[in-house]
Amino acid sequence: MNETIAFVQTPKDIAKLMISLISENKKIQKNISILDSGCGKGIFLKGLQEAGFTNIEGIELSKDLYEFCLKKFPNIQLYNDDYLDWLSLKEYDLIIGNPPYTHYNSLPRSSRSKVVRIVGNKESDIYYAFILKSIELLKEGGELIFIVPYGFFFNTYAKVIRERIIDNGYLETIIDLDETRLFEDENPETLIFKFVKKSLESKQNIRILRIKERNFKPNTINNKAVESLSNSKENEVFTYYERQMFTHENEVWTTYPEKIFSDFYLLKEVCWIGVGLVSGFEQAFLLDEEEKSLLNDEEKEFLVRSIKSKHCQGYWTDGFEYYLLIDKRIKSEEELKRYPTIHRKLISHKDSMTVRYFPASNKWFHWQALRNYEKLRSFIAQPKIFVPSLDRSTENRFSLTEEPYLPSGDVLTLVPQQKDPFFLLGYLNSKFFREYYLSAGARRGHRISFTQRIMSNVRIPVFDQETENGIAKIAKNIFDGKNTAKRKEIDEIISINLK
Ligand SMILES: C[S@@+](CC[C@H](N)C(=O)[O-])C[C@H]1O[C@@H](n2cnc3c(N)ncnc32)[C@H](O)[C@@H]1O
Repeated sequence: MNETIAFVQTPKDIAKLMISLISENKKIQKNISILDSGCGKGIFLKGLQEAGFTNIEGIELSKDLYEFCLKKFPNIQLYNDDYLDWLSLKEYDLIIGNPPYTHYNSLPRSSRSKVVRIVGNKESDIYYAFILKSIELLKEGGELIFIVPYGFFFNTYAKVIRERIIDNGYLETIIDLDETRLFEDENPETLIFKFVKKSLESKQNIRILRIKERNFKPNTINNKAVESLSNSKENEVFTYYERQMFTHENEVWTTYPEKIFSDFYLLKEVCWIGVGLVSGFEQAFLLDEEEKSLLNDEEKEFLVRSIKSKHCQGYWTDGFEYYLLIDKRIKSEEELKRYPTIHRKLISHKDSMTVRYFPASNKWFHWQALRNYEKLRSFIAQPKIFVPSLDRSTENRFSLTEEPYLPSGDVLTLVPQQKDPFFLLGYLNSKFFREYYLSAGARRGHRISFTQRIMSNVRIPVFDQETENGIAKIAKNIFDGKNTAKRKEIDEIISINLK
């Protein structure tokens, strides 16, 4: 075996922090059986030895790394083998480490089949297989302490991992390190978790730490995580809270506290919610002022004004783009020639447009995806709220417009049906809603993803009419004056009402 898959060294202080998570009753028995799966250059082996453990084993796929460890740790039982089809002779009290992270598509062929055999789908990452294999190799009461990407908390194809964890025990600790720079070159969002293999009845609460910003160094992370866990309190580096173990009802997992309110309705009951229109070839369809001025009256029929993510200011929109929305009103290239300016512009991109992806029923000069187009046109005269589908801003950017704009592919559209649009605008831009939304599993790195699926099912608390009117009034004030100083007033009203 001399393949290396994703060797990246874990910082010493992070390994130390993970070793400190071993339960006290195990720490005192120095001879518990321990396995480091994918031991690399032995950063965990060293830490474990320093902590006094005597019954340590390590497995490593790469012959070079295995030999490196063999020299360095003569007293440790090492295996140069592939963990994913390794036949272990025993079960372990503790499995610890930093498994490789590589998506199925980037794995060598030999590993792919092993991952599929263990996880059951081709959309997996190799670390999914490491988690499942490790759960299998633990004794009852055994512990798994891994540092892995955050993705298995929400990825659809990692559901099998979440289910296996729930069915076989519970998470005792989660330390969410977000996109902190821990490794050379890559900065995936990572978390440390400690899983305990135990029968259902004895599930405990999970202790959840989340790092407050990403510039802390491993040494500080170690010290402050240990401090926060031992005091059961937040500190300047970590937020701290406890919650019950996730259940099968939790579609995704999150490290944000749950917001619970009993009286609510779903956003989709009071709003139409839909994705924007995708041209699939911006240069061809986007027009500048000069190009627009060349269009004749017939050609102007294809002109639309469109809102992109960059126009969403939060509360209001600023600017728009002109697009040529070419759809099945033009059926053939012959017909396209009837519109000389449009034809001239599109034909210059024909080669590239022909090779892009589009549905078989489309022609090369059509827009790629016009989902919801009819619906959106029917709403054109109504107030609409646009929000970037993926947003890095620190405050929500739900942006209302009463203009006849259409949404681009990078924004989600909400059309209020029964509620005052200004009430929804104020509520959706509030701090409370942002935290609630994050707790619904919408975080993607340092961004929030506003999807039709999650947004449709968000719960809106029932406020009395006076409160709704109060929120709407302030939101209108912010919208009219283009001044967000009053955002805080809405946060206060909501926090008083939802205490
Ligand atoms: C992210 S590195 C971590 C290394 C070390 N544990 C550390 O924390 O510094 C993952 C390690 O797993 C090894 N590895 C990858 N695939 C493996 C497999 N199928 N079986 C055993 N080891 C594997 C890699 O060679 C690499 O050394």
